[in-house]
Amino acid sequence: MTRVACTGGMNPAYSDSFPSYSTPYVSAKSLSAIASCLHPSRDNAQIQRTVPGSLLISEGPFIAAQAGGMPHVPGIWNDEQVAAWRRVTDAVHAKGSFIFMQLWAVGRAATVSQLKKEDPNFPYVGPSDIKLSGRSETPRPLTVTEIKEYVQLYATAASNAVHRAGFDGVEFHGANGYLVDQFLQDVSNNRTDEYGGSVENRCRFALEALEAISKAVGQSRTAVRLSPWGEFQDMRMADATIFSTYTHFITRLSELYPNLAYVHVIEPDAQGSAGRSPRKGESNEFIRKIWAPRPIISAGGYSRESALKVAEETGQLIAFGRAYIPNPDLPLRLRKNLPLTATDRSVFYGCKGVMNRGDLERI
Ligand SMILES: Cc1cc2nc3c(=O)[nH]c(=O)nc-3n(C[C@H](O)[C@H](O)[C@H](O)COP(=O)(O)O)c2cc1C
Repeated sequence: MTRVACTGGMNPAYSDSFPSYSTPYVSAKSLSAIASCLHPSRDNAQIQRTVPGSLLISEGPFIAAQAGGMPHVPGIWNDEQVAAWRRVTDAVHAKGSFIFMQLWAVGRAATVSQLKKEDPNFPYVGPSDIKLSGRSETPRPLTVTEIKEYVQLYATAASNAVHRAGFDGVEFHGANGYLVDQFLQDVSNNRTDEYGGSVENRCRFALEALEAISKAVGQSRTAVRLSPWGEFQDMRMADATIFSTYTHFITRLSELYPNLAYVHVIEPDAQGSAGRSPRKGESNEFIRKIWAPRPIISAGGYSRESALKVAEETGQLIAFGRAYIPNPDLPLRLRKNLPLTATDRSVFYGCKGVMNRGDLERI
């Protein structure tokens, strides 16, 4: 059995919902794979080959229709979506595994034509009127009333995911240049009200949403994902601002929500769904120091060897994204050191790729 890894003893958050830490697979602690690409319409092959004891994290469904603006992305706001996800969570649980839903709102990363296709009245918004490079449209800054509405949308989505669709928890998407990340970072947030300017103000939206989510489903079923170093979608602050922003954010988390299920950091070795070469001085070590000994998931650019090394040395859980897609039995392959099916970017997005895997060899 793969397992959730954690140094410094068991987090009570996990005690009733995850396998015991005293499994014999001490060296397998790095091998709990995370799928970032689960989708209710293309889940079968992925889940059929899920290794018992895996922790899966869904791709980010939109918390509400107006929070989206990208094609083929699932949601978690209506009954039909809840029922479709229930089939996914039932299948995962039948495999003896666990699944968190990522909660996603895209803000200025929305494709305006897609957003308007969903509903011509949906506004193209972000924290500020800072354009994404290469875009002609400028987002409208959210009003404070709209920000409060978003906080509630997160809470409702979390409740739908956990209480109705059967997820073990939710992961608040604060990474990769989407709405929450846009608030956190000064490169996308130049507000002058209580949601912008100082570090405290830039972190306010994320902390308010996490409060609402954890009230809706409980701290132990709430997690957060961050990408301090990612440059995807015009992100990445100056080094000193990254340190001060995420130091404040993680410190507040540890004070306010010490029993969060986990903090999930994307390493400087990845951004979005691609690899990246870390620059000198880039490291999430400062986050780990603040959050330890609570559970941390680390993702981005891991090989079997580097995952084992980091997990053994630090006790972190290592997540896999790209490698998991053509290898839904990845924990098994890693544990047995079996060859991996190569990834194929051309099938990462859209609806064809994950289902067309009948030719995968069985192991
Ligand atoms: C097809 C695809 C879809 C992804 N979707 C999401 C997503 O919805 N949310 C997210 O936070 N990351 C997403 N990611 C990024 C991965 O979670 C992960 O951070 C990234 O692939 C780096 O890890 P890796 O080096 O193991 O692939 C996606 C990656 C891929 C390849």
